[in-house]
Amino acid sequence: MMILCISVYVNCIHNEIVAQRPNGFIQRNGTRFFLNGKPHYFNGFNAYWLMAFAADPSTSSKVTTAFQEASKYGLNLARAFAFNDGGGYKALQTSPGIYDETVFRALDVVISEAGKYGLRLILSLVNNWKDGGGKNQYVEWAKQRGQKLSSEDDFFSNPLTKQFYKNHVKTVLKRKNTVSGLLYKDDPTIFSWELMNEPRSLDLSGKQVQDWVSEMAAYVKSIDNIHLLQVGLEGFYGKSMAGRLQFNPGYEGGTDFISNNLLPEIDYATIHLYPQWMSRFNQSTQDAFVERWVSIHIEDSDNVLRKPILVTEFGLSSRVPGYTVAKRDRFYVQVYNRIYFSASHRGACAGGAFWQLFVQGMDNMRDGYEVIFQENPSTTYLISQQSLRMSHIR
Ligand SMILES: *[C@@H]1O[C@H](CO)[C@@H](O)[C@H](O)[C@H]1NC(C)=O
Ligand SMILES: *[C@@H]1O[C@H](CO)[C@@H](O)[C@H](O)[C@H]1NC(C)=O
Repeated sequence: MMILCISVYVNCIHNEIVAQRPNGFIQRNGTRFFLNGKPHYFNGFNAYWLMAFAADPSTSSKVTTAFQEASKYGLNLARAFAFNDGGGYKALQTSPGIYDETVFRALDVVISEAGKYGLRLILSLVNNWKDGGGKNQYVEWAKQRGQKLSSEDDFFSNPLTKQFYKNHVKTVLKRKNTVSGLLYKDDPTIFSWELMNEPRSLDLSGKQVQDWVSEMAAYVKSIDNIHLLQVGLEGFYGKSMAGRLQFNPGYEGGTDFISNNLLPEIDYATIHLYPQWMSRFNQSTQDAFVERWVSIHIEDSDNVLRKPILVTEFGLSSRVPGYTVAKRDRFYVQVYNRIYFSASHRGACAGGAFWQLFVQGMDNMRDGYEVIFQENPSTTYLISQQSLRMSHIR
């Protein structure tokens, strides 16, 4: 595939990336990921909708289409959700420990199709938010069994919700894929587990989340010591490095980027990045925040954590006032350049994943963040260039 060279801000490389089914597990050594002894870098996307779409025959072909298209533009990482708890559409875990086999088979298909197109997966195991059930659903389940709980943050400390969560972890990690025959915990297509999508707690001391991460990370590793593990953090700083609190977007989340990620079972750090966090400020302040948020976390990953870092979500919605495609492209370039600069200088940042990839014909699900390759040629071009240059780092 010939890539046209019209860009001034990326090195242009005429080449072709040939997708291959993942072979070998991604490992970590110091601040970098390695595959078969060579440093490994990612360019990725988010697609939370994959499992639900795969579970419905009328939409399942979109999963393959998304992977096919992603692979065509050199993407090699997809972040998806391995949970859907409660009574919602295509729920996976309908009540504690009870699974809908049709939906589990759909997750099997997602994993095996991803592998076919050379994509590795980050799979998240529960949501902080109510989408797909989340910690709130776990707390409701515990209440139905007589626990006296008052806050959805009791998810992090109640013995029964913790037991429910561990059971979900065990069920997913020990699942045998009905397509490939591999146990999930033995499947190299899975790059990493994520404890929770965007954990947050009202306990701003940070103790509640720290204790939960510590216990659950050890539990995951007791079942699967091969796959890498991360927390699912957005990157808010907490009390352990008070001098860093000034870098937060004006609030904390009961998490602690430093102490959470320093836990020995956590293999790498993550951040999320939405300029909307700073929507009360003008554009130049938002731009400065974007630069600083990425740089400061990379710096801390290099020097304090001594672990790799991925920007596992970044996005800009077309629904914010003043939005233009050019603005979103500029934001993507800003993030991609920071990532590439670190990666190409042997730094800790090994890639990113934009929020989020859609394919054509998903109009009822649009949320303003979607990138649809056919609709967004300029963004697609930037994405493909990032894939190319990341793939050429040695
Ligand atoms: C990790 O990297 C160091 C320094 O680059 C090297 O000496 C060591 O052998 C590596 N360890 C593994 C397990 O690859
Ligand atoms: C944006 O806001 C900052 C203070 O928050 C101010 O110093 C700066 O001059 C503003 N920039 C523009 C272009 O209005």
